[in-house]
Amino acid sequence: MKFLRKTHESTLILGARRMAQVPKVRLSGGLEICRLLNGMWQVSGAHGPISPQKAVKAMEAYVDAGLTSFDMADIYGPAEEIFGEFNRQLKSAVTAPAVQGLTKWVPRPGPMDRKVVEQAVRRSMSRMQVERLDCLQFHWWDYGDQRYLDALGHLSDLQQEGLIRELALTNFDTQRLEEIVSRGIRISSNQVQYSLIDRRPAAKMEKFCLAHGVQMLAYGTLGGGLITERYLGCREPKSQSELNTASLSKYKKMVDMWGGWELFQELLSALDAVARRRGCSIASVATKYVLDQPAVGGVIVGCRLGVAGAEHIQDSLRSCGVSLAPEDLRAIHSVLQRSQDLLLAVGDCGDEYRK
Ligand SMILES: NC(=O)c1ccc[n+]([C@@H]2O[C@H](COP(=O)([O-])OP(=O)(O)OC[C@H]3O[C@@H](n4cnc5c(N)ncnc54)[C@H](OP(=O)(O)O)[C@@H]3O)[C@@H](O)[C@H]2O)c1
Repeated sequence: MKFLRKTHESTLILGARRMAQVPKVRLSGGLEICRLLNGMWQVSGAHGPISPQKAVKAMEAYVDAGLTSFDMADIYGPAEEIFGEFNRQLKSAVTAPAVQGLTKWVPRPGPMDRKVVEQAVRRSMSRMQVERLDCLQFHWWDYGDQRYLDALGHLSDLQQEGLIRELALTNFDTQRLEEIVSRGIRISSNQVQYSLIDRRPAAKMEKFCLAHGVQMLAYGTLGGGLITERYLGCREPKSQSELNTASLSKYKKMVDMWGGWELFQELLSALDAVARRRGCSIASVATKYVLDQPAVGGVIVGCRLGVAGAEHIQDSLRSCGVSLAPEDLRAIHSVLQRSQDLLLAVGDCGDEYRK
């Protein structure tokens, strides 16, 4: 670790490398996070085996590079514990950069009394080894069951009591976000799928978020790796062995609904031409495109922490500096305009989880 670290013998100075300037955004409760976040679904086990020890070690390089914000969930296998162990090591350092841990609570619908809600919050705090949660993003599976309002009421109380800094949502649609905000519950962000393939957030969510100071945090921006050079010119992956992570199979279904593999190849070719013009990768173009959208606070890029060859730090950092010119956007939109409207096919943000 490139921080001042205590050892049992003495204080060891590990050459402090200058941290890159990663753009930041401040959430409504005051927490500053990186506009590029490290996604930890990839350590859940649904993206291949992970060694928790290697994952903890791998986090150092992200933080050294200035990528200090991590997104996880109570349901991402050992993600919260991995963050907790990393956090424990940071706390034992003499000087260390601040890291931000954004987690989620994804309960099965059921009674949402104060005890249930507080237990969930304290479980994440304990796993993450923090005194309070930087940000809790709440997910709900079934709008027919209105107990999400009970849960959010208790979460809001816990926020007032200091256990949660930023109260946030994930995969809520515009109608429910509006309902929640109108009850006086302060929502910092809504984490939604947002990519060149899935531009549903621009249809309704964006306007509401801009008007109410809610940041959108985007996921699926790289389609689990589909929106990269790796799939340019490739025949269509169909089998489970080809779509071998939960992300690849999730986002391949989106590509199918969006317009299919042939049109997707046209999009990758257009992105490749832009990437070559701008001297960056397809992933950087895809990331910057979403970062540039109104109301987008940040893009979460999935990281298979500790897996050799799955580290994309420098390329991710490069995304922030890319400038997409009008000619680039015209080339991209000439393909996008031939795609299906996912709002019609799937519904508003998060509806894919409720079908
Ligand atoms: N709220 C929700 O419901 C929800 C749902 C999904 C995801 N998320 C969050 O969003 C995060 C992002 O995950 P995602 O599933 O949406 O995946 P993603 O970020 O679209 O794709 C991640 C994959 O893209 C590849 N990649 C990343 N950077 C690259 C680069 N610069 N060049 C080439 N390839 C690159 C990597 O593949 P390799 O590892 O194979 O190299 C990586 O595993 C998750 O970890 C999670 O935190 C939230």
